[in-house]
Amino acid sequence: MEVKVGEYILLWGGPDANYLSEYRPGKAVHSHRGIVHLPEGLLWGDALRSSTGRVFYVIRPSNADFVLRLRRKTNIFYPKDIGLVLMLTDFHPKARIVEVGSGSGGMAVVLSRLLVEPGKLYSYDVNARHQRVAKENVSKYGRAEKVIWHLRDVAKCGFWEREVDIAIVDVPEPWEIVPHAFRSLKGGGFLVAASPNVEQVKETRKRMNELGFFGIRTVELLLRDWHIREVGCRPDHRMQGHTLFYTFGRKVIRKAAAVK
Ligand SMILES: C[S@@+](CC[C@H](N)C(=O)[O-])C[C@H]1O[C@@H](n2cnc3c(N)ncnc32)[C@H](O)[C@@H]1O
Repeated sequence: MEVKVGEYILLWGGPDANYLSEYRPGKAVHSHRGIVHLPEGLLWGDALRSSTGRVFYVIRPSNADFVLRLRRKTNIFYPKDIGLVLMLTDFHPKARIVEVGSGSGGMAVVLSRLLVEPGKLYSYDVNARHQRVAKENVSKYGRAEKVIWHLRDVAKCGFWEREVDIAIVDVPEPWEIVPHAFRSLKGGGFLVAASPNVEQVKETRKRMNELGFFGIRTVELLLRDWHIREVGCRPDHRMQGHTLFYTFGRKVIRKAAAVK
């Protein structure tokens, strides 16, 4: 299948030599393994040779390829953690999701690529500079029409939306957002709160318990690459040791004690 002009391609020349580029016939992509000239009629899965004779495969970028290349003003959700959030909630393409904060748009880029009508992400941030970067990243790598941006302090003013499926909270004081998320969620809806420290997790869970979330669960995900070869298979020496703890819970409208 031919690559369309303007589509993103990943030129893959090995694990430490891959380049993301928008496809334009005649474009020269500069790499540390020589210049790769993009021909007319480029095919997905093509192999191209650089000016220094190295081979590059033309492949579709993964969601992680986009996230890892974002311009950043803040920390972002790492690809492994975005996968976790999608799998431990009832994420579906028509979901209505609120998030705070927009940050650099790590989560927003991926969600905007996955959502279909009437699915939407409502992304909040109190910092205009951060949100501008998140918007730019979504426009560049995601689908701008899938995200509604609100510049607003959610701890003070809450979310506008009601009956949402998922509320994603990535701020230093998530417990301040928990009551607002509760109001915004539909019955059974998921709250996901991300925090680097256990003290934050404990405070967040306390608020969640008080308000009537159930199935509360805190996890972290460790991802380690392996070297697989003829002799001496072993894990990579380097890994992302700690990103964030993720606390999940679901909203119950009536606490069990109140049910007749
Ligand atoms: C770590 S970043 C979020 C990163 C985002 N999850 C991503 O994947 O790119 C945290 C953001 O929350 C915003 N923030 C903190 N407290 C807030 C509040 N009360 N209301 C709205 N935004 C808030 C900050 O300005 C910052 O941009």
